[in-house]
Amino acid sequence: MFPEQMLPSWLAAYPHHVRRRRRQRQTTYKRFLQPAITNLIPLSFKFLSFFSLLSSSSSSKKSFKMVSHTQILSTLSHLTSSPSKLPRVSLFIGATNGIGKTTLKALITASAPSQSPIRIYLTCRSSSLQTTQTFISSELKPLNPKAEIIILQGEISLLSEVRRISASISSKETGIDLLFLTAGYAPFGGGKTRKETGEGLEVAQSLEYYSRILFIRELLPLLKQYKGRVISVLGGGLEKPFSISDVNDLELREKGSGFLGYKAQTQYVAMNTLGMEVLARENRDITFLHSWPGIVSTGNVWRGLDDRRSWLGWFIWLVVEPLIKFFGTSEEDCGQRFLFQCCSGLYGGEEERVVEWEGEKGKSTEGGGLFLVNYKCQCTPNENNLKVLREKAQEKVWEHTLEVFQRTEEVQATGDGTPS
Ligand SMILES: NC(=O)c1ccc[n+]([C@@H]2O[C@H](COP(=O)([O-])OP(=O)(O)OC[C@H]3O[C@@H](n4cnc5c(N)ncnc54)[C@H](OP(=O)(O)O)[C@@H]3O)[C@@H](O)[C@H]2O)c1
Repeated sequence: MFPEQMLPSWLAAYPHHVRRRRRQRQTTYKRFLQPAITNLIPLSFKFLSFFSLLSSSSSSKKSFKMVSHTQILSTLSHLTSSPSKLPRVSLFIGATNGIGKTTLKALITASAPSQSPIRIYLTCRSSSLQTTQTFISSELKPLNPKAEIIILQGEISLLSEVRRISASISSKETGIDLLFLTAGYAPFGGGKTRKETGEGLEVAQSLEYYSRILFIRELLPLLKQYKGRVISVLGGGLEKPFSISDVNDLELREKGSGFLGYKAQTQYVAMNTLGMEVLARENRDITFLHSWPGIVSTGNVWRGLDDRRSWLGWFIWLVVEPLIKFFGTSEEDCGQRFLFQCCSGLYGGEEERVVEWEGEKGKSTEGGGLFLVNYKCQCTPNENNLKVLREKAQEKVWEHTLEVFQRTEEVQATGDGTPS
Protein backbone atom coordinates (compact mmCIF):
# COMPACT_ATOMS: atom_id res chain seq x y z
CA MET A 1 0.00 0.00 0.00
CA PHE A 2 1.10 3.55 -0.70
CA PRO A 3 1.82 5.78 2.25
CA GLU A 4 -1.00 8.30 2.63
CA GLN A 5 1.22 11.30 1.76
CA MET A 6 2.20 9.82 -1.63
CA LEU A 7 -1.39 9.67 -2.83
CA PRO A 8 -2.81 12.48 -4.95
CA SER A 9 -4.87 14.81 -2.83
CA TRP A 10 -8.18 13.89 -4.50
CA LEU A 11 -7.61 10.22 -3.76
CA ALA A 12 -6.32 10.71 -0.27
CA ALA A 13 -9.58 12.47 0.46
CA TYR A 14 -11.42 9.14 0.07
CA PRO A 15 -11.78 7.02 3.17
CA HIS A 16 -9.69 3.85 3.25
CA HIS A 17 -12.62 1.40 2.73
CA VAL A 18 -13.71 3.30 -0.41
CA ARG A 19 -10.22 2.91 -1.88
CA ARG A 20 -10.24 -0.78 -0.97
CA ARG A 21 -13.53 -1.31 -2.80
CA ARG A 22 -12.09 0.56 -5.73
CA ARG A 23 -9.09 -1.77 -5.79
CA GLN A 24 -11.39 -4.80 -5.55
CA ARG A 25 -13.39 -3.52 -8.50
CA GLN A 26 -10.17 -3.07 -10.47
CA THR A 27 -9.08 -6.61 -9.63
CA THR A 28 -12.46 -7.99 -10.67
CA TYR A 29 -12.22 -6.07 -13.92
CA LYS A 30 -8.72 -7.36 -14.62
CA ARG A 31 -9.55 -10.96 -13.73
CA PHE A 32 -12.93 -11.36 -15.34
CA LEU A 33 -14.22 -8.51 -17.46
CA GLN A 34 -11.04 -7.62 -19.30
CA PRO A 35 -10.41 -11.15 -20.66
CA ALA A 36 -14.12 -11.40 -21.48
CA ILE A 37 -14.02 -8.22 -23.52
CA THR A 38 -10.69 -8.89 -25.18
CA ASN A 39 -11.60 -12.50 -26.04
CA LEU A 40 -15.26 -12.22 -26.86
CA ILE A 41 -15.11 -9.29 -29.25
CA PRO A 42 -12.65 -10.90 -31.70
CA LEU A 43 -14.41 -14.22 -31.19
CA SER A 44 -17.76 -12.68 -32.08
CA PHE A 45 -16.22 -11.30 -35.25
CA LYS A 46 -14.79 -14.71 -36.14
CA PHE A 47 -18.10 -16.48 -35.62
CA LEU A 48 -20.02 -13.76 -37.43
CA SER A 49 -17.66 -13.89 -40.39
CA PHE A 50 -17.91 -17.71 -40.40
CA PHE A 51 -21.71 -17.57 -40.40
CA SER A 52 -21.71 -14.87 -43.07
CA LEU A 53 -19.40 -17.09 -45.13
CA LEU A 54 -21.98 -19.84 -44.77
CA SER A 55 -24.90 -17.64 -45.64
CA SER A 56 -23.14 -16.00 -48.57
CA SER A 57 -22.69 -19.38 -50.21
CA SER A 58 -22.43 -18.06 -53.72
CA SER A 59 -24.18 -20.98 -55.05
CA SER A 60 -27.49 -20.70 -53.33
CA LYS A 61 -28.20 -17.42 -55.05
CA LYS A 62 -27.90 -18.42 -58.64
CA SER A 63 -29.05 -21.95 -58.80
CA PHE A 64 -31.96 -24.30 -58.88
CA LYS A 65 -35.18 -23.96 -56.99
CA MET A 66 -35.21 -25.23 -53.46
CA VAL A 67 -36.54 -28.75 -53.14
CA SER A 68 -39.76 -28.28 -51.18
CA HIS A 69 -40.74 -30.26 -48.14
CA THR A 70 -43.67 -31.68 -50.10
CA GLN A 71 -41.32 -32.95 -52.84
CA ILE A 72 -39.12 -34.54 -50.20
CA LEU A 73 -42.04 -36.28 -48.51
CA SER A 74 -43.37 -37.44 -51.86
CA THR A 75 -39.96 -38.96 -52.74
CA LEU A 76 -39.80 -40.69 -49.37
CA SER A 77 -43.30 -42.09 -49.71
CA HIS A 78 -42.29 -43.42 -53.13
CA LEU A 79 -39.36 -45.07 -51.44
CA THR A 80 -41.73 -46.68 -48.97
CA SER A 81 -43.96 -48.07 -51.68
CA SER A 82 -41.05 -49.18 -53.93
CA PRO A 83 -38.64 -50.87 -51.53
CA SER A 84 -36.43 -51.95 -54.44
CA LYS A 85 -35.14 -48.36 -54.40
CA LEU A 86 -33.91 -48.61 -50.82
CA PRO A 87 -30.15 -49.01 -50.53
CA ARG A 88 -29.58 -52.75 -50.09
CA VAL A 89 -26.22 -52.35 -48.35
CA SER A 90 -25.13 -49.09 -46.69
CA LEU A 91 -22.17 -48.00 -44.66
CA PHE A 92 -22.57 -45.08 -42.25
CA ILE A 93 -19.45 -43.44 -40.86
CA GLY A 94 -20.42 -41.18 -37.94
CA ALA A 95 -24.02 -42.28 -37.37
CA THR A 96 -23.64 -42.56 -33.62
CA ASN A 97 -24.83 -38.97 -33.34
CA GLY A 98 -26.21 -36.01 -35.25
CA ILE A 99 -26.90 -35.97 -38.97
CA GLY A 100 -25.73 -39.53 -39.59
CA LYS A 101 -27.93 -40.85 -36.80
CA THR A 102 -31.09 -39.01 -37.94
CA THR A 103 -30.50 -40.10 -41.55
CA LEU A 104 -30.06 -43.69 -40.43
CA LYS A 105 -33.32 -43.48 -38.50
CA ALA A 106 -35.10 -41.97 -41.52
CA LEU A 107 -33.81 -44.85 -43.65
CA ILE A 108 -35.04 -47.50 -41.23
CA THR A 109 -38.39 -45.67 -40.96
CA ALA A 110 -38.73 -45.75 -44.76
CA SER A 111 -37.96 -49.47 -44.81
CA ALA A 112 -40.48 -50.23 -42.05
CA PRO A 113 -43.73 -50.59 -44.08
CA SER A 114 -42.12 -53.13 -46.45
CA GLN A 115 -40.01 -54.72 -43.70
CA SER A 116 -37.15 -54.82 -46.22
CA PRO A 117 -34.13 -56.87 -45.21
CA ILE A 118 -31.70 -54.02 -45.85
CA ARG A 119 -28.21 -54.28 -44.39
CA ILE A 120 -26.51 -51.37 -42.66
CA TYR A 121 -22.99 -51.19 -41.29
CA LEU A 122 -22.08 -48.36 -38.95
CA THR A 123 -18.76 -47.51 -37.41
CA CYS A 124 -18.62 -46.79 -33.71
CA ARG A 125 -15.86 -46.04 -31.26
CA SER A 126 -15.86 -47.78 -27.90
CA SER A 127 -17.00 -44.64 -26.03
CA SER A 128 -20.28 -44.64 -27.98
CA LEU A 129 -20.86 -48.39 -28.10
CA GLN A 130 -23.41 -48.69 -25.33
CA THR A 131 -25.59 -45.75 -26.40
CA THR A 132 -25.49 -46.95 -29.99
CA GLN A 133 -26.52 -50.50 -29.05
CA THR A 134 -29.42 -49.06 -27.03
CA PHE A 135 -30.42 -46.79 -29.92
CA ILE A 136 -30.49 -49.75 -32.29
CA SER A 137 -32.40 -52.08 -30.00
CA SER A 138 -34.90 -49.56 -28.67
CA GLU A 139 -35.47 -47.25 -31.65
CA LEU A 140 -34.43 -48.94 -34.89
CA LYS A 141 -35.13 -52.65 -34.45
CA PRO A 142 -38.78 -52.17 -33.43
CA LEU A 143 -39.36 -50.24 -36.68
CA ASN A 144 -37.95 -52.94 -38.94
CA PRO A 145 -36.80 -56.13 -37.23
CA LYS A 146 -35.70 -57.52 -40.60
CA ALA A 147 -33.13 -54.79 -41.13
CA GLU A 148 -29.67 -56.05 -40.30
CA ILE A 149 -27.69 -53.40 -38.45
CA ILE A 150 -24.07 -54.24 -37.85
CA ILE A 151 -21.78 -52.22 -35.61
CA LEU A 152 -18.15 -52.04 -36.67
CA GLN A 153 -16.08 -50.96 -33.74
CA GLY A 154 -13.04 -48.82 -34.47
CA GLU A 155 -11.33 -45.45 -34.19
CA ILE A 156 -11.78 -44.10 -37.69
CA SER A 157 -9.61 -41.02 -37.18
CA LEU A 158 -6.77 -43.52 -37.70
CA LEU A 159 -6.24 -44.43 -41.33
CA SER A 160 -5.03 -47.90 -40.33
CA GLU A 161 -8.48 -48.45 -38.83
CA VAL A 162 -10.14 -47.17 -41.99
CA ARG A 163 -8.19 -49.79 -43.94
CA ARG A 164 -9.07 -52.54 -41.47
CA ILE A 165 -12.82 -51.71 -41.47
CA SER A 166 -12.93 -51.39 -45.26
CA ALA A 167 -11.18 -54.74 -45.65
CA SER A 168 -13.64 -56.37 -43.28
CA ILE A 169 -16.63 -55.08 -45.31
CA SER A 170 -14.97 -56.04 -48.59
CA SER A 171 -14.58 -59.57 -47.33
CA LYS A 172 -18.32 -59.84 -46.61
CA GLU A 173 -20.07 -57.85 -49.34
CA THR A 174 -20.09 -57.85 -53.11
CA GLY A 175 -21.46 -54.32 -53.44
CA ILE A 176 -22.45 -51.15 -51.58
CA ASP A 177 -25.30 -48.82 -52.53
CA LEU A 178 -24.60 -46.04 -50.06
CA LEU A 179 -21.57 -44.68 -48.25
CA PHE A 180 -22.65 -41.89 -45.87
CA LEU A 181 -19.85 -39.91 -44.23
CA THR A 182 -20.45 -37.50 -41.35
CA ALA A 183 -17.73 -38.07 -38.74
CA GLY A 184 -15.96 -34.88 -37.76
CA TYR A 185 -16.19 -31.48 -36.15
CA ALA A 186 -14.95 -27.94 -36.65
CA PRO A 187 -11.72 -27.64 -34.64
CA PHE A 188 -12.61 -24.20 -33.25
CA GLY A 189 -11.91 -25.00 -29.62
CA GLY A 190 -8.25 -25.77 -29.73
CA GLY A 191 -7.00 -22.30 -30.52
CA LYS A 192 -3.62 -22.61 -32.17
CA THR A 193 -2.97 -26.04 -30.71
CA ARG A 194 -3.03 -28.97 -33.09
CA LYS A 195 -4.52 -32.12 -31.69
CA GLU A 196 -3.02 -35.08 -33.44
CA THR A 197 -3.92 -38.71 -33.89
CA GLY A 198 -1.37 -41.46 -33.28
CA GLU A 199 -0.52 -41.17 -36.98
CA GLY A 200 0.41 -37.49 -36.62
CA LEU A 201 -2.60 -36.06 -38.45
CA GLU A 202 -4.75 -33.28 -37.05
CA VAL A 203 -7.81 -35.10 -35.65
CA ALA A 204 -10.54 -33.07 -37.34
CA GLN A 205 -8.65 -33.06 -40.65
CA SER A 206 -8.32 -36.80 -40.49
CA LEU A 207 -12.03 -37.29 -39.74
CA GLU A 208 -13.31 -34.72 -42.21
CA TYR A 209 -10.91 -35.32 -45.05
CA TYR A 210 -8.30 -38.11 -45.07
CA SER A 211 -10.42 -40.86 -43.55
CA ARG A 212 -13.40 -39.99 -45.75
CA ILE A 213 -11.35 -40.05 -48.94
CA LEU A 214 -9.63 -43.24 -47.87
CA PHE A 215 -12.95 -44.98 -47.13
CA ILE A 216 -14.15 -44.04 -50.62
CA ARG A 217 -10.95 -45.24 -52.27
CA GLU A 218 -10.85 -48.52 -50.38
CA LEU A 219 -14.50 -49.23 -51.16
CA LEU A 220 -14.47 -48.16 -54.81
CA PRO A 221 -14.76 -51.74 -56.13
CA LEU A 222 -17.89 -52.38 -54.03
CA LEU A 223 -19.39 -49.00 -54.89
CA LYS A 224 -18.74 -49.61 -58.59
CA GLN A 225 -20.36 -53.01 -58.39
CA TYR A 226 -23.70 -51.55 -57.27
CA LYS A 227 -23.23 -48.17 -59.02
CA GLY A 228 -23.57 -46.71 -55.55
CA ARG A 229 -23.71 -43.25 -54.05
CA VAL A 230 -21.25 -41.46 -51.74
CA ILE A 231 -22.35 -38.55 -49.56
CA SER A 232 -19.83 -36.56 -47.56
CA VAL A 233 -21.57 -34.12 -45.21
CA LEU A 234 -19.48 -31.03 -44.56
CA GLY A 235 -19.65 -27.83 -46.60
CA GLY A 236 -20.31 -28.48 -50.29
CA GLY A 237 -20.82 -25.17 -52.12
CA LEU A 238 -18.97 -23.09 -49.50
CA GLU A 239 -15.60 -23.21 -51.26
CA LYS A 240 -13.91 -19.81 -51.68
CA PRO A 241 -10.85 -18.91 -53.77
CA PHE A 242 -8.94 -18.23 -50.53
CA SER A 243 -10.05 -21.46 -48.81
CA ILE A 244 -6.57 -22.95 -49.23
CA SER A 245 -4.00 -20.38 -48.28
CA ASP A 246 -0.79 -22.35 -48.67
CA VAL A 247 -0.65 -25.37 -50.97
CA ASN A 248 2.70 -26.31 -49.48
CA ASP A 249 1.25 -26.48 -45.99
CA LEU A 250 -1.93 -28.48 -46.43
CA GLU A 251 -1.65 -29.95 -42.94
CA LEU A 252 -1.43 -26.42 -41.51
CA ARG A 253 1.78 -27.15 -39.65
CA GLU A 254 3.85 -24.06 -40.40
CA LYS A 255 4.44 -21.66 -37.56
CA GLY A 256 3.15 -18.18 -38.27
CA SER A 257 0.43 -19.09 -40.72
CA GLY A 258 -0.09 -22.09 -38.40
CA PHE A 259 -3.14 -23.90 -37.14
CA LEU A 260 -6.34 -21.95 -36.57
CA GLY A 261 -9.73 -23.63 -36.22
CA TYR A 262 -11.61 -21.27 -38.49
CA LYS A 263 -8.96 -21.42 -41.19
CA ALA A 264 -8.69 -25.20 -40.85
CA GLN A 265 -12.40 -25.90 -41.26
CA THR A 266 -12.59 -23.66 -44.34
CA GLN A 267 -9.67 -25.55 -45.86
CA TYR A 268 -11.09 -29.00 -45.05
CA VAL A 269 -14.27 -28.07 -46.92
CA ALA A 270 -12.28 -27.11 -50.02
CA MET A 271 -10.06 -30.20 -49.79
CA ASN A 272 -13.17 -32.37 -49.57
CA THR A 273 -14.53 -30.91 -52.77
CA LEU A 274 -11.24 -31.08 -54.65
CA GLY A 275 -10.46 -34.62 -53.51
CA MET A 276 -13.97 -35.93 -54.17
CA GLU A 277 -13.97 -34.29 -57.58
CA VAL A 278 -10.87 -36.26 -58.57
CA LEU A 279 -12.59 -39.48 -57.51
CA ALA A 280 -15.86 -38.50 -59.23
CA ARG A 281 -13.99 -37.74 -62.46
CA GLU A 282 -12.33 -41.16 -62.43
CA ASN A 283 -15.43 -43.13 -61.41
CA ARG A 284 -18.37 -41.85 -63.41
CA ASP A 285 -20.60 -44.80 -62.56
CA ILE A 286 -20.63 -43.81 -58.87
CA THR A 287 -22.62 -40.75 -57.73
CA PHE A 288 -20.69 -38.34 -55.52
CA LEU A 289 -22.28 -35.65 -53.34
CA HIS A 290 -20.54 -33.19 -51.07
CA SER A 291 -23.33 -31.72 -48.95
CA TRP A 292 -23.61 -28.76 -46.66
CA PRO A 293 -26.25 -29.37 -43.97
CA GLY A 294 -26.81 -25.70 -43.09
CA ILE A 295 -27.22 -25.37 -39.34
CA VAL A 296 -28.40 -28.38 -37.37
CA SER A 297 -28.45 -28.56 -33.59
CA THR A 298 -26.48 -31.73 -32.91
CA GLY A 299 -23.99 -30.58 -30.27
CA ASN A 300 -21.24 -30.64 -32.92
CA VAL A 301 -20.21 -27.12 -31.95
CA TRP A 302 -19.00 -28.40 -28.55
CA ARG A 303 -16.68 -31.00 -29.99
CA GLY A 304 -13.06 -30.00 -30.04
CA LEU A 305 -13.56 -27.73 -27.03
CA ASP A 306 -11.32 -28.75 -24.14
CA ASP A 307 -12.78 -26.62 -21.42
CA ARG A 308 -16.49 -25.87 -21.37
CA ARG A 309 -15.91 -23.28 -18.64
CA SER A 310 -13.55 -21.27 -20.83
CA TRP A 311 -14.65 -17.97 -22.38
CA LEU A 312 -15.28 -19.79 -25.62
CA GLY A 313 -17.48 -22.27 -23.76
CA TRP A 314 -19.50 -19.43 -22.24
CA PHE A 315 -19.77 -17.74 -25.63
CA ILE A 316 -21.03 -20.92 -27.28
CA TRP A 317 -23.50 -21.54 -24.47
CA LEU A 318 -24.83 -18.00 -24.36
CA VAL A 319 -24.73 -16.97 -28.02
CA VAL A 320 -23.90 -19.69 -30.53
CA GLU A 321 -26.05 -22.55 -29.25
CA PRO A 322 -29.25 -20.51 -28.84
CA LEU A 323 -28.71 -19.17 -32.38
CA ILE A 324 -28.20 -22.70 -33.72
CA LYS A 325 -31.31 -23.94 -31.86
CA PHE A 326 -33.36 -21.02 -33.12
CA PHE A 327 -32.26 -20.95 -36.77
CA GLY A 328 -31.25 -24.58 -37.21
CA THR A 329 -33.06 -27.36 -39.07
CA SER A 330 -34.90 -29.81 -36.84
CA GLU A 331 -33.37 -33.29 -36.57
CA GLU A 332 -36.37 -34.96 -38.20
CA ASP A 333 -36.36 -32.54 -41.14
CA CYS A 334 -32.61 -33.01 -41.49
CA GLY A 335 -32.95 -36.81 -41.58
CA GLN A 336 -35.61 -36.62 -44.29
CA ARG A 337 -33.59 -34.17 -46.38
CA PHE A 338 -30.52 -36.40 -46.24
CA LEU A 339 -32.49 -39.54 -47.01
CA PHE A 340 -33.82 -37.66 -50.03
CA GLN A 341 -30.20 -36.99 -51.06
CA CYS A 342 -29.43 -40.68 -50.62
CA CYS A 343 -32.22 -41.84 -52.91
CA SER A 344 -33.39 -39.13 -55.30
CA GLY A 345 -32.82 -39.22 -59.04
CA LEU A 346 -32.26 -35.45 -58.88
CA TYR A 347 -28.57 -36.31 -58.60
CA GLY A 348 -28.51 -38.96 -61.33
CA GLY A 349 -27.85 -42.64 -60.67
CA GLU A 350 -29.26 -45.87 -62.05
CA GLU A 351 -32.92 -45.48 -62.99
CA GLU A 352 -34.06 -48.65 -61.31
CA ARG A 353 -32.15 -47.86 -58.13
CA VAL A 354 -33.19 -44.23 -57.49
CA VAL A 355 -36.53 -42.51 -57.01
CA GLU A 356 -37.43 -40.77 -60.23
CA TRP A 357 -37.10 -36.98 -60.22
CA GLU A 358 -39.49 -35.24 -62.55
CA GLY A 359 -38.09 -31.71 -62.41
CA GLU A 360 -34.85 -30.30 -63.78
CA LYS A 361 -31.87 -32.57 -63.05
CA GLY A 362 -29.19 -31.30 -60.71
CA LYS A 363 -26.01 -29.85 -62.17
CA SER A 364 -22.69 -31.29 -61.08
CA THR A 365 -19.31 -29.57 -61.21
CA GLU A 366 -17.79 -29.07 -64.64
CA GLY A 367 -14.47 -30.40 -63.47
CA GLY A 368 -15.67 -33.89 -62.67
CA GLY A 369 -19.32 -34.57 -62.02
CA LEU A 370 -19.38 -33.97 -58.28
CA PHE A 371 -22.69 -32.68 -56.90
CA LEU A 372 -22.29 -29.86 -54.41
CA VAL A 373 -25.55 -29.80 -52.50
CA ASN A 374 -26.79 -27.28 -49.97
CA TYR A 375 -29.25 -27.61 -47.08
CA LYS A 376 -32.16 -26.95 -49.44
CA CYS A 377 -31.05 -30.02 -51.44
CA GLN A 378 -30.15 -27.72 -54.33
CA CYS A 379 -27.15 -28.38 -56.53
CA THR A 380 -24.74 -25.52 -56.35
CA PRO A 381 -21.83 -25.92 -58.81
CA ASN A 382 -19.97 -22.88 -57.43
CA GLU A 383 -17.95 -22.86 -60.66
CA ASN A 384 -16.32 -19.42 -60.36
CA ASN A 385 -14.71 -20.24 -57.05
CA LEU A 386 -13.90 -23.80 -57.99
CA LYS A 387 -12.13 -22.75 -61.16
CA VAL A 388 -9.64 -20.77 -59.07
CA LEU A 389 -9.21 -23.54 -56.54
CA ARG A 390 -8.77 -26.21 -59.21
CA GLU A 391 -5.99 -24.28 -60.91
CA LYS A 392 -4.28 -23.32 -57.71
CA ALA A 393 -4.61 -26.41 -55.57
CA GLN A 394 -6.28 -29.53 -56.94
CA GLU A 395 -3.18 -31.30 -58.18
CA LYS A 396 -1.24 -30.44 -55.03
CA VAL A 397 -4.10 -31.57 -52.79
CA TRP A 398 -4.32 -34.91 -54.55
CA GLU A 399 -0.56 -35.54 -54.55
CA HIS A 400 -0.45 -34.65 -50.88
CA THR A 401 -3.39 -36.94 -50.08
CA LEU A 402 -1.76 -39.93 -51.74
CA GLU A 403 1.48 -39.12 -49.96
CA VAL A 404 -0.33 -39.11 -46.57
CA PHE A 405 -1.96 -42.44 -47.40
CA GLN A 406 1.40 -43.93 -48.27
CA ARG A 407 3.11 -42.42 -45.22
CA THR A 408 0.49 -43.71 -42.79
CA GLU A 409 0.43 -47.12 -44.36
CA GLU A 410 4.08 -47.46 -43.48
CA VAL A 411 3.76 -46.20 -39.95
CA GLN A 412 2.59 -48.45 -37.18
CA ALA A 413 -0.07 -46.50 -35.25
CA THR A 414 1.12 -45.87 -31.73
CA GLY A 415 -2.26 -45.99 -30.05
CA ASP A 416 -5.51 -44.19 -30.50
CA GLY A 417 -3.99 -40.70 -30.51
CA THR A 418 -7.25 -38.82 -30.26
CA PRO A 419 -8.10 -36.59 -27.40
CA SER A 420 -10.90 -37.83 -25.21
N1 LIG B 1 -24.37 -29.68 -37.37
C1 LIG B 1 -24.15 -28.63 -38.15
O1 LIG B 1 -24.83 -27.60 -38.07
C2 LIG B 1 -23.07 -28.69 -39.20
C3 LIG B 1 -22.94 -27.60 -40.08
C4 LIG B 1 -21.95 -27.65 -41.05
C5 LIG B 1 -21.10 -28.74 -41.14
N2 LIG B 1 -21.25 -29.77 -40.25
C6 LIG B 1 -20.33 -30.92 -40.38
O2 LIG B 1 -21.07 -32.06 -40.72
C7 LIG B 1 -20.50 -33.23 -40.13
C8 LIG B 1 -21.57 -33.94 -39.32
O3 LIG B 1 -22.05 -33.06 -38.33
P1 LIG B 1 -22.97 -33.54 -37.11
O4 LIG B 1 -23.62 -32.32 -36.60
O5 LIG B 1 -23.79 -34.69 -37.50
O6 LIG B 1 -21.86 -34.02 -36.09
P2 LIG B 1 -22.03 -34.76 -34.67
O7 LIG B 1 -23.46 -34.83 -34.27
O8 LIG B 1 -21.12 -34.09 -33.74
O9 LIG B 1 -21.53 -36.24 -35.00
C9 LIG B 1 -20.23 -36.41 -35.38
C10 LIG B 1 -19.94 -37.88 -35.55
O10 LIG B 1 -18.54 -37.97 -35.70
C11 LIG B 1 -18.04 -38.90 -34.77
N3 LIG B 1 -16.77 -38.46 -34.22
C12 LIG B 1 -16.46 -37.29 -33.65
N4 LIG B 1 -15.18 -37.29 -33.23
C13 LIG B 1 -14.70 -38.49 -33.54
C14 LIG B 1 -13.44 -39.10 -33.35
N5 LIG B 1 -12.42 -38.47 -32.80
N6 LIG B 1 -13.28 -40.35 -33.80
C15 LIG B 1 -14.31 -41.00 -34.38
N7 LIG B 1 -15.53 -40.48 -34.58
C16 LIG B 1 -15.72 -39.22 -34.15
C17 LIG B 1 -19.02 -38.94 -33.65
O11 LIG B 1 -18.88 -40.16 -32.95
P3 LIG B 1 -19.20 -40.28 -31.38
O12 LIG B 1 -20.68 -40.38 -31.27
O13 LIG B 1 -18.49 -41.50 -30.98
O14 LIG B 1 -18.67 -39.08 -30.70
C18 LIG B 1 -20.34 -38.75 -34.37
O15 LIG B 1 -20.83 -39.98 -34.83
C19 LIG B 1 -19.34 -32.75 -39.27
O16 LIG B 1 -18.15 -32.90 -40.00
C20 LIG B 1 -19.64 -31.26 -39.07
O17 LIG B 1 -18.44 -30.52 -38.90
C21 LIG B 1 -22.23 -29.78 -39.28
